[in-house]
Amino acid sequence: SGDIYQIPVVVHLLYTNSTNNISVAQIQSQIDVLNEDFRRTNADATNKWSQAADTKIEFYLAQIDPNGNPTTGITRKAVSKSTWQTDDSMKKSSQGGVNPWNTAEYLNMWIVDNLISGTRTILGYAQFPWDTDASTDGVVMADQYFGTIGTAQAPFDGGRTTTHEVGHYFGLRHIWGDGGCGVDDFVSDTPESDAPNYGCATGHISCGSEDMVQNYMDYSDDSCMNLFTLGQKNRMHTYLETGGARRSL
Ligand code: ARG
Ligand code: CA
Ligand code: ZN
Repeated sequence: SGDIYQIPVVVHLLYTNSTNNISVAQIQSQIDVLNEDFRRTNADATNKWSQAADTKIEFYLAQIDPNGNPTTGITRKAVSKSTWQTDDSMKKSSQGGVNPWNTAEYLNMWIVDNLISGTRTILGYAQFPWDTDASTDGVVMADQYFGTIGTAQAPFDGGRTTTHEVGHYFGLRHIWGDGGCGVDDFVSDTPESDAPNYGCATGHISCGSEDMVQNYMDYSDDSCMNLFTLGQKNRMHTYLETGGARRSL
């Protein structure tokens, strides 16, 4: 229906062996989680926070490629590099990766074997809509944090890493604003928080109120997260409508 955004996705899989050459079913399980989480049809949605929202954004694997030909929405490339830095090399064929499909028309996702920032393992990373380099626009995840089956590993096997990264891609910041009390995420209905929460710290208080540890933009385990807020929905819609290079998504 007219007021639902429908986002075509292309998944660029950079695999090193038959195990991390993940299945179509694993990739589709991630698309399914995105649709459930963004439409708030996730089975673990609760009434704990009344500002929880259906963001009215949906996702599908692209069916037409940039040349107008039928596609599965998945590209596969065998690579020898199993650990990638957050330097966008996976997004450049000149650096062993795969160039994006037109980032104004597709949400590009790159899946790698392992991802590190410096020496620290990370689950995924995203480019914000205000970053203007169209050639690196999109999200990146390691395969063990992508989808809900196959190589997905607990406690990050609920597909919520990609939900979180796509939240960043649409302009959401972490709910603690990446700073202490008083540092904002520019969303008025997410309670102030002083730091990330890990695991499932239900009931944790900071900055004088209960932290929304169930929000996709905290650092809780996948099984703890279950909502975006109305304010986050509105912020994402603002970027979808005005977001420069993304206007035609
Ligand atoms: N650390 C990552 C980021 O800041 C993702 C965190 C995802 N959390 C999760 N429970 N899957 O973008
Ligand atoms: Ca892996
Ligand atoms: Zn994040």
